[in-house]
Formats: sequence, C-alpha cells, structure tokens
Amino acid sequence: METATEKWRHCFFYLIFLYAILYLIHTHFSRKLLLGNETVRVKKNPDLPLRFRSDGTFKILQVADMHYGNGIITRCRDVLASEFEYCSDLNSTRFLRRMIEAENPDFIAFTGDNIFGTSTADAAESLFKAFGPAMESGLPWAAVLGNHDQESTMNREELMSFISLMDYSISQLNPPAENPSNIDKGEIMTNIDGFGNCDLRVYGALGSNVANSSVLNLFFLDSGDRVLHQGIRTYGWIKESQLNWLRHVSQEYQGQKQDGDHQNDAWPLAKPPALAFFHIPILEIRRLYNKPIVGQLQEAVACSFVESGVLQSFVSMGYVKAVFMGHDHTNDFCGNLDGIWFCYGGGFGYHGYGKAGWPRRARVILTELEKGEKSWMGVKRIKTWKRLDDEKLSKIDEQVLWDL
Ligand SMILES: *[C@@H]1O[C@H](CO)[C@@H](O)[C@H](O)[C@H]1NC(C)=O
Ligand SMILES: *[C@@H]1O[C@H](CO)[C@@H](O)[C@H](O)[C@H]1NC(C)=O
Repeated sequence: METATEKWRHCFFYLIFLYAILYLIHTHFSRKLLLGNETVRVKKNPDLPLRFRSDGTFKILQVADMHYGNGIITRCRDVLASEFEYCSDLNSTRFLRRMIEAENPDFIAFTGDNIFGTSTADAAESLFKAFGPAMESGLPWAAVLGNHDQESTMNREELMSFISLMDYSISQLNPPAENPSNIDKGEIMTNIDGFGNCDLRVYGALGSNVANSSVLNLFFLDSGDRVLHQGIRTYGWIKESQLNWLRHVSQEYQGQKQDGDHQNDAWPLAKPPALAFFHIPILEIRRLYNKPIVGQLQEAVACSFVESGVLQSFVSMGYVKAVFMGHDHTNDFCGNLDGIWFCYGGGFGYHGYGKAGWPRRARVILTELEKGEKSWMGVKRIKTWKRLDDEKLSKIDEQVLWDL
C-alpha cells in the first residue's frame, strides 16, 4: 500500500518529468515549428547583379561532372590502386574547396552531372553535399543539369527548382522572357524546352562608366538527358525553342539604350560578348578530331546525332565568344569552330569515370575589361586555363580565347 507521502512523491516526480518534456519541446522544437518568427530559414542570396571587380576582371570557375554520390561511403572510380583505399566523394569536396581558395573566383558554373543519380540514395542530400563548398563560400553560383542528375529521387524540374533555392545559387528554373512575337503585350515565353535555361548579366565595375551596363552575358542552356528519337536512342540536344529564346535575348540588346556619358570612352558594343554553358557537346565538335586543339582529346565526342543548330545560331548572333561543356570526362580541350571556341571542363569529380593517373581537373575563365582614358569600357579579353587536383594544383594550358 502506498502511503500519502509516497503518493505525493510520485506526483512530484511526475510533474518534474512533465516539465522536463515541455522544456525540451520548447527549446528544441518550437523554433522550428513556429512559422513567421525570425528563425524561419530563408535562402541566402549573393550581392547582385554580378559585377566586374574594380581591377576590371571577372573570373569564373567551371566545375564539370562532379558526379556526387552519397559522400564518404561513395568510392572513387578510375584512380590508381594505391589511391583507392582513401578516396571517396569527399575528395571531390576537397578539390572544390581548394579551387575556390586558390583562384578566388567571382562566380562558379556547374556544367551538369553534378550528382550521379544511380549512386545517390537521396537527391536533396547529394545536392547539398555536392554544392556544399559553393554555398559555404558565399560566392554566386549557377548550375545546369547533365544526363545523370535526375536518376535518383527528383526529376529534372524538381532538381532545378531545388537548385534555384539553394544558398547563393542564382540558377533559375526557366527565364521570364517575353515572346518575341508578342513583345508589345508583354507575353511570357513559357514553352522553352528544358529547365535551368537562363541569361545572367555581368555589370561593369562600380564607379566606372559601365557600372550600370551589362558588359558580359552568361547563357546557361539545358542540353537534356537521353531520348528515343526516330527509333534510335540518343543523347538530348538544345532545342529550337531554346535558341529562339536566345535570339530574343539578342534582340533585346539591339534595343538596349546607350544612355550615360559615353562621349569620351566610345561606348562599345551594343551586344556585349557572351559565354555559353551546357552539358552535352554538339555534334560539330567532332569536326575538331583532326584540327589543332589546346588540351587533350582522349575519347569520342558523345552527343546526340541530331544537328541542333546551336553553332549556326551562335555564329549568326555574332557575340557568343566561347562555350563551356562537360560530359566527356577525359576530354579537356578547347577547339575553334567558325570563330567560336568550344572548351571542355575535363572531369572534376572522383566518382565519375576518368583515367587513373590522369588527375581530375577544373577550368578557369578570366574576362578582362578594357581600360579607357577615364574609366573601364567593355570586355577586351577572355582567357582560360585549367588546374589539376595534384599537390600544387598545377596550372596548365593557359590560352587567350578572344581579344578585342
Ligand atoms: C583523397 O583524400 C584523402 C584524404 O584527404 C587523401 O589522403 C588522398 O590522397 C586523396 N586521394 C586522391 C586520389 O586525391
Ligand atoms: C549608375 O546609376 C547610379 C544610380 O542610379 C547613378 O548614381 C550613377 O551615376 C550611374 N552611373 C553611370 C555611369 O551612369
């Protein structure tokens, strides 16, 4: 039989226990449950617009084919036997951190196969790990999808929405562009193929004559994944609707108002130079098999058999100076087609296929403004080089892609 004191004691401990539970709920969970207070997580955004630095430069780090899986448990492919034991996705993370530190870029461009769907248990988790160093760095970054990103728990639309909401990402699900035939009505162009197509504008240095003008364009294009076309399995390609949209963007520049005081520094190009980024190479790259190139061609160009019209479009637009692609990990060359440079990034990630003893690598693109008598003017030069993931992050294959 319980005495009155025992009953009282049980009651007391019960109350203490209840209080402890409530305290725990309050301190650990309530902040996450309550919407509308200051702890709701909001996407962190970089300072925009993108801008050249006051020294007249804008530097881009291209990361091609990171092929991220689950992290530490995901093994490296195609490394030397001696390297295999201590090699995982974390080596890709480490390489990205080192590249950001060594090059101090202004922007990071991920050109697809960012995650390797077939090795990924959860796409969201893998994306967080893959882009982790970019998000930690606080640098603006953008990504397009490759043909492997959608192979786990998210489809391409979900992936691009998710990526556009990650910290410091400036990717967009798709561009809010007007339909060229209905510009007056301000109609939104909604039928653009793919996801993640966007036009990012880089403005001139603060305090200069070009501070309020976009002087460089970065086009991101979705090259798709795989399709059955005319009964044949092939890779995706950039569609007419995407090229139409680009032409429309191009027309906007013709109409760009040249205001401001440009009497002294002859204000330059109505259409500033542009760089394009996408994953799957175009068919015409095969024309480079017997041409002089900078870098290495070690595997056949894997692409769609469909002629996409990308090359003709870029040539007729006239201001796309260079294109940066991924997909073929052991090709890292730049070659020129009809006056436009096409450059591979070279495989970056350790879980993607590669070549043992041939270090993983990344491409850097440096654009420089021309110095006028009083102020910066338009872009005068575009350079590129690569760095290897070796002890010294060796810099190789530096070249000028375009010069005013
Ligand atoms: C992977 O990272 C580990 C730990 O930092 C390092 O010891 C190893 O050399 C790296 N492997 C390769 C192939 O870079
Ligand atoms: C750019 O815009 C700012 C704010 O509107 C203005 O103060 C500045 O004079 C402009 N600079 C040029 C070069 O037009």
